[in-house]
Amino acid sequence: MARFGDGAGRFAGRTVVVTGGAGGIGRAVCAGFAAEGATVAVVDVNADAVADAVSVLGTRAHGFTLDVADAGAVAELMRRVHAEHGGPHVLVTLAGGSLGTPRDLDAIAPEHVDLVLDVNVKGTLYCCQAAAPHLGDGGAIVTVASIGGRQPSPVTGVPYAAAKAAVGGLTRRLAKELGASGVRVNAVAPGLFLTGRLQGMFDAMSDAERREVLDAIPLGRMPELREIADPVLFLASDEASYITGVTLDVNGGRYMPA
Ligand SMILES: NC(=O)c1ccc[n+]([C@@H]2O[C@H](COP(=O)([O-])OP(=O)(O)OC[C@H]3O[C@@H](n4cnc5c(N)ncnc54)[C@H](O)[C@@H]3O)[C@@H](O)[C@H]2O)c1
Repeated sequence: MARFGDGAGRFAGRTVVVTGGAGGIGRAVCAGFAAEGATVAVVDVNADAVADAVSVLGTRAHGFTLDVADAGAVAELMRRVHAEHGGPHVLVTLAGGSLGTPRDLDAIAPEHVDLVLDVNVKGTLYCCQAAAPHLGDGGAIVTVASIGGRQPSPVTGVPYAAAKAAVGGLTRRLAKELGASGVRVNAVAPGLFLTGRLQGMFDAMSDAERREVLDAIPLGRMPELREIADPVLFLASDEASYITGVTLDVNGGRYMPA
């Protein structure tokens, strides 16, 4: 089995593609990989956010603006990354979310369902499919599910729950498919991390509502972004070399599967 790193960081000499890399969690994940020696492809549909993220991350980061639901653009991305930087050796698929779609059942229109499934499910699949031939022995994929796909969550809607549950199934099936070539495929399922819109929602809550949210979390506090980036890096690293097909819940204990 090939091993990562040469003593200059767990990901030295490796190329990592992070979709949704210019978002809240994405930036923390990209910074973590860059700090451990990786060359990082920051992939996002938001061109301004990509430019900003790359300027903050420094010379190890390279920006790519595209829609992960566009299979042709994703295939071209992986070809370019391979030609320009090698690999990719690691893929992290963070592009996704509820994407501003409504939560109430009677407000959900077909275009909302399409958008959430296209980005979270098809986008994840297209990225994994296009990266797979390049990952090689010792390569790793970390997909991104959600606590909202593991148990009913009041914060997100039905399409999001369905999409993130599908990411779990997709992850296990891919782990079975790619295991023989030495590629591991795992998911993280974050609880509530206060990025962007979610921070605004939390801030707008009454003290009693905030207390209710915190009381449901055994650790009794909101997480730092480092606390989702570190598990992603762990699953992508050789430290997790015999772990594949798992969904790692990162939620302070709010959901504990048997
Ligand atoms: N923050 C949380 O509490 C939380 C909890 C569970 C799961 N997640 C998941 O983690 C991931 C990242 O969440 P976040 O909080 O950083 O959200 P975010 O909105 O800050 O980041 C998501 C990024 O994905 C990008 N994106 C959206 N559609 C895209 C597309 N079609 N192609 C390429 N890029 C696209 C956005 O521009 C954005 O930069 C999402 O998949 C989300 O569902 C987040």
